[in-house]
Amino acid sequence: MLINNDTIIKDTDERIRQISEDVPLPLSKEDEQLLRDMYQYVVDSTDEEKAEKLNLRPAVGISAIQVGVPKKMTAIVVDDQDKNGNPIRWEFMLVNPKIVSSSVQKAYLSSGEGCLSVVNEHEGYVVRSARVKVRAYDLLTDQNIEIRAQGYLAIVLQHELDHFKGTLFYDHIDAKNPFKEVPGAMEI
Ligand code: CO
Repeated sequence: MLINNDTIIKDTDERIRQISEDVPLPLSKEDEQLLRDMYQYVVDSTDEEKAEKLNLRPAVGISAIQVGVPKKMTAIVVDDQDKNGNPIRWEFMLVNPKIVSSSVQKAYLSSGEGCLSVVNEHEGYVVRSARVKVRAYDLLTDQNIEIRAQGYLAIVLQHELDHFKGTLFYDHIDAKNPFKEVPGAMEI
């Protein structure tokens, strides 16, 4: 599927609020191809030359509903740092990912969140769990995996899995006080 900034569904399209369904495993050829195309979008989107040529907006993740397919599939490529400050890349092609546990401690990005399906700016803190444990089938490694995520990766996972419920990041922003401090929350 051709995925670019013109084919990605925006929040003005009510399909973005659709609930996504579980995907039968093993993957059909179609589902597999779609997930690979989604992954390729995310990889290419942070390559300046390709992004300009192919009309891609930079992203760290994309979910299938964003191209109009209400199936629980998401591709994530996150460049982060490990505990020692060394660069580390987390990348996944997840099918039927599920949060099996999440921390009481909260976290938020100090600069707020963005989304390929959201054109207008929505300022404010999106408060999420600081740590999550996610189980899924990962097409990239062709196995069932358990991800113990914290910090930025935990935020990205929760953002993408929210898309399965038709939830967008700004739904979480406190309308009356968008920069409300959350006691004990980790600022990322
Ligand atoms: Co999004």
